[in-house]
Amino acid sequence: MLLVPFHSMEEEMAYEDLRSFLDALGSDLLRVNQALDPKFEMAALLREVQSGGQAVLFETVTGCPGARVVGNILSSRRALALALGTAPEDLAQTYRRNKARSLPAVLLGGAAPAQEVIHRGPEDLLSILPILTHHDRDVAPYITCGLVLAKDPETGRRAMGIHRVMCPRGKRLGILLGGPPFTRLHGAAEAQGRPLEIAVALGVDPATLLASVVKIGPLGPDKFDIAGALRGLPLELVRARSVDLEVPARAEIIIEGHVLPGVREPEGPFGENTGCYFTNSSPVVEVTAVTHRRDFIYPGLCPWTVEVDHLLSLAAGTELLGQLQAQTYGVLDLEMIAGTCAFSAVISVRGCRPTEVRRVILLALALDRRLKSVTVVDEDVDIRSPREVAWALATRCQPDRDTVVLRGVEGYVIDPSTLGGDTGSKIGFDATRGPGAAFDKVTVPAAARAKARAVVAELEVRKRAGSL
Ligand SMILES: Cc1cc2nc3c(=O)[nH]c(=O)nc-3n(C[C@H](O)[C@H](O)[C@H](O)COP(=O)(O)O)c2cc1C
Repeated sequence: MLLVPFHSMEEEMAYEDLRSFLDALGSDLLRVNQALDPKFEMAALLREVQSGGQAVLFETVTGCPGARVVGNILSSRRALALALGTAPEDLAQTYRRNKARSLPAVLLGGAAPAQEVIHRGPEDLLSILPILTHHDRDVAPYITCGLVLAKDPETGRRAMGIHRVMCPRGKRLGILLGGPPFTRLHGAAEAQGRPLEIAVALGVDPATLLASVVKIGPLGPDKFDIAGALRGLPLELVRARSVDLEVPARAEIIIEGHVLPGVREPEGPFGENTGCYFTNSSPVVEVTAVTHRRDFIYPGLCPWTVEVDHLLSLAAGTELLGQLQAQTYGVLDLEMIAGTCAFSAVISVRGCRPTEVRRVILLALALDRRLKSVTVVDEDVDIRSPREVAWALATRCQPDRDTVVLRGVEGYVIDPSTLGGDTGSKIGFDATRGPGAAFDKVTVPAAARAKARAVVAELEVRKRAGSL
């Protein structure tokens, strides 16, 4: 069902759940009727079509009668824009405007779609859910699109983030908790010798998915409230059945469980968003209940794909751009470089002196824990064109003069180049132009360009008419 939100006079559509968003995708949803196996085959197809911009709904799942699987739901800027009810060119602006409003989550009593079917203390998750196995060397099926939820028992403050969950046969799962707030919550629980209660929400509306990976820091708002603000409709919650948590009432599936204190077991290898396999010694979850819709749709998210790029570019990139613009003059735009797991970004500036560029670099590298390399360019460089950015680096940057290197800073756990340590380094490149005409980009007279375009257009028309 599509809902027009009550709080706004704008023509904005809000999706209350995953399936209403899938309905809205229209021809941007590719339906696959042929039965495919969750082991390798679905991930292979999602990867194959990732650049086409279509979401994929697998209507028949080998070994899991009645279940459906969806993937690539945010694999185009068009889909992201649809998710936020805006146009692709207005994405960043809409994200910021929506996020600033307040639409707190509401707790429902009674029945919730996410709890139509309840399995208490299930013995084996894989006999209930079609969890995908993605890559040759993955040790087991992995949940890749699960919103992990927990609460600080002292303050009541909630935590939410996407965390990979390893699902071998049985009811013990491995979970990668790579940083705060989850590492802190789990550490505090362990210090008292108690388990940490968690829930994993699977199959939520796209704005809630985005909200789950927004970087908020220790004082930021509740991510459930960000979800409501982004989608223009308060998130509806319901009490979980076996843990003391509130979970999205309209999710497709909820897994409830305890992260055990003092237990670490081998987890991985698993092909990460870096495009490399990562193995860890990780906490273990014991599942206490699984609830789901009667006709649930399981969400797949293929690591290291265009969909991950889009998630990170909006939730991490737009967020960082806003922070930089609040602190410095002259920052125009920011792009997370596709395929880098948001380790690399390009920033464009206008009228910044070299010392100001340096400040932008230092701020960006410090504000985003994951960001490892940043390149700052002028506004005459298209930051979404790898060729233009490489050109600016090649012609406007002298490494000994224009590079900032930070050593001994926090490394990102899944980055293989840290060689398994938790310390890394970061680099910033000032690829802005110097003074004088030597830095001018070549241009072609406007009249000649216009004529060239007219000739090309004419050739196109003749080609289409078959006369060429
Ligand atoms: C696709 C995807 C997968 C992620 N997987 C993990 C993970 O397995 N472990 C982890 O600690 N963080 C993971 N993250 C990052 C967390 O979700 C993170 O909490 C989130 O990006 C918000 O940042 P914060 O840690 O600053 O709150 C992942 C992020 C994305 C977008």
